[in-house]
Amino acid sequence: MLRYFTSGESHGEALVAFLSGLPAGLQVDLAFVDRELWRRQQGYGRGGRMKIETDKAHILSGVRQGATIGSPIAVLLENKDWKNWQEALPVEPGSPEKHKPVASPRPGHADLAGALKYNFPEARYVLERASARESAARVAAGALAKLFLKELGIEVLSHVVAVGGAVLAKEAAWQQIFEACARNEILLNCTDAEAEQRMKEEVDKALRTGDSVGGIFEVVAHNVPPGLGTYAQWDERLDGLLAGAVMSLQAVKAVEIGAGVVAATSLGSSVHDEIGYGAEHRFTGFTRARNNAGGIEGGVSNGEEIRVRGYLKPISTLRRPLQSVDFATREPVKAAYERSDVCVVPAAGVAAEAMVALTLARCALEKFGGDSMQETRRNWNGYLEQLKNY
Ligand SMILES: Cc1cc2nc3c(=O)[nH]c(=O)nc-3n(C[C@H](O)[C@H](O)[C@H](O)COP(=O)(O)O)c2cc1C
Repeated sequence: MLRYFTSGESHGEALVAFLSGLPAGLQVDLAFVDRELWRRQQGYGRGGRMKIETDKAHILSGVRQGATIGSPIAVLLENKDWKNWQEALPVEPGSPEKHKPVASPRPGHADLAGALKYNFPEARYVLERASARESAARVAAGALAKLFLKELGIEVLSHVVAVGGAVLAKEAAWQQIFEACARNEILLNCTDAEAEQRMKEEVDKALRTGDSVGGIFEVVAHNVPPGLGTYAQWDERLDGLLAGAVMSLQAVKAVEIGAGVVAATSLGSSVHDEIGYGAEHRFTGFTRARNNAGGIEGGVSNGEEIRVRGYLKPISTLRRPLQSVDFATREPVKAAYERSDVCVVPAAGVAAEAMVALTLARCALEKFGGDSMQETRRNWNGYLEQLKNY
């Protein structure tokens, strides 16, 4: 079973991702992992932190001579900012006057709920772990899952559908998303230049006014065969697993599969994807004229592209802070402000790609098994043959 954990604090020494369950013999392209980490750091509207950090994956275990060896993988990502925080967040008791308390909780952040839960007098330790810096570790683990999926021909990418009120009106084809993600300069990772400019204006407005903006990203998994996930048990449904995985990302407040939101207020005849049969073969001869289901029916992948959207709330740290209360005095004060992003929709999309890739890799390994890539590939090829002959 593919399992993963992360550890590390936003301003601690490092983040660590642990990934267990990948078969032996998977070639690990470190440049690919680092590019994924770079992609998570891009996008117009990021704060000063991203100028400090240039994430590089340092693999501690589980990969030798360029390939996985079947044992757990640990990846370390150094926090370059640690040098500025060693005295504020020492492992040993250190000097209390050097600590940097977060004195008034930010509405929308984890500060108040976390301080109450863990019985902290202020929110420093809450922020440190709740922060989306953690998502860098997920991207490192997700990059390894992507390398595994690539061996099966499956690719996972994302693009931005909306920033604030600026929305991409048309569906983006896989090739357009592929080209957008291949760029070496990423503005808002939108496939349409005109829509991207409108999105930039939304960020500019927020930057000018000390505010923040949210948006919508879409993750697309390309070339997924029918048969991943199952309706047999509630907790094995692919839609449920993907929704949980994407929703678990910081600031994602809604998840949509395919055209799920519009479908709820439409008639069945205009929603469901009619079925045909043709000579051309991908996995099978069955065809669909459209993909409102987002590639999943009954909790099972149906052979079409998997499309998952994440809806991000605006960032909660505001340069013009909202009203809050001082933890110590209980007096009304403005919420704490610390250097912050203003818009993170493209970056959240990259982190969501990692979550989708990890979920698909887990489902693929549950279906095909294999302790070595040779064994997994043999099982995979046998299944493709079965689909072809169906
Ligand atoms: C890539 C990414 C970067 C983020 N950067 C910030 C940030 O700089 N400042 C901030 O207040 N929140 C940021 N967030 C959002 C917070 O981490 C999130 O709102 C907070 O942890 C509370 O969790 P919740 O929004 O899921 O309730 C970011 C989220 C993502 C996905």
